[in-house]
Amino acid sequence: MVVQRALVDAHLQRWMESLPKGTLYEPMAYLLSLPAKRVRPVLTVMGCELFGGHGKDVLDEAVAIELFHNFTLMHDDIMDASPLRRGRPTVHAKWDVNTAILSGDAMLVKAYQLMGANAEVLSIFNRHAIEVCEGQQLDMDFERRDIVSLSDYAAMIRLKTAVLLACALRIGACKAGAPLDDQERISSFGENLGLAFQLRDDLLDAFGDDDRTGKVSGGDLRNGKKTWLLIRGLELEQHLGRNVLMDQLRLPSVQRDAKLMVQALREYGVEREAEIEVARLEGIAFAQLDDLDGPGRSTEDLRILANALRARVS
Ligand code: IPE
Ligand code: IPE
Ligand code: MG
Ligand code: MG
Ligand code: MG
Repeated sequence: MVVQRALVDAHLQRWMESLPKGTLYEPMAYLLSLPAKRVRPVLTVMGCELFGGHGKDVLDEAVAIELFHNFTLMHDDIMDASPLRRGRPTVHAKWDVNTAILSGDAMLVKAYQLMGANAEVLSIFNRHAIEVCEGQQLDMDFERRDIVSLSDYAAMIRLKTAVLLACALRIGACKAGAPLDDQERISSFGENLGLAFQLRDDLLDAFGDDDRTGKVSGGDLRNGKKTWLLIRGLELEQHLGRNVLMDQLRLPSVQRDAKLMVQALREYGVEREAEIEVARLEGIAFAQLDDLDGPGRSTEDLRILANALRARVS
């Protein structure tokens, strides 16, 4: 993991140094300079290596995936009215909303410039990139919808988050010349890893430590995001004859008391249940890695990464 991360960091650093000066590019450089996990580009490198490719041959695509991810974050922070990202003011808070929209758009174009060299890779990317947008729209639609089920939630996070991890791995595999059935298998592992990743992100939003997540905690609850936690919490309230969450959701978002909502979720046992669900999803992903191991092929690095994500606090 350390080796792949170093390759990605060096390539991203060179790419950033080539950026022109000016207000359009400053927010990109700012966001990309803040501490981040770089999960997706590392997955691209690992996906390539797993099938016999060289990591250094997939670095443009790896950086492109990270640029796309950062583009989604820049716009996501506007949509979610988030003031902090990676421990620092979000781009729209530091500059303004219009700057964040345009700089995000330009970052998407930059991602395409790096991704466009290979038609097969580009088609994989396109397929997944539009799904991320579909997922982000569902995430916002659900804020306004009273009834959202856990399976609606799973479908939404598959689109907004999981498919990009799958895409990162698949592009690596494709560049290594892996056959389609292997691409499918690594992609499916990425999706399950991604589902666990988003559920963990939701847990951290409610129960995590601001100093470590670099985000303002409780934002999802204040926004009325239909996360696994809130959906399950509302279900349990009905059984228990309680109404803390329901009452809070009736208030305008600025008046909601996220601490009270977090406390209710803990009391109902939702935190514990969600931890079990994350572990279940991770278990599925790990089992898929067993099937990918074979003669001359090792999933060891992917296991190290997946284990690090299991224990993540940011
Ligand atoms: C945050 O992604 C957005 C989600 C899909 C949950 P990361 O948790 O990978 O954020 P960085 O890139 O490490 O900051
Ligand atoms: C973000 O989900 C998913 C995408 C950006 C596509 P969140 O809104 O939960 O991500 P954070 O918590 O702001 O990083
Ligand atoms: Mg969001
Ligand atoms: Mg957000
Ligand atoms: Mg989140």
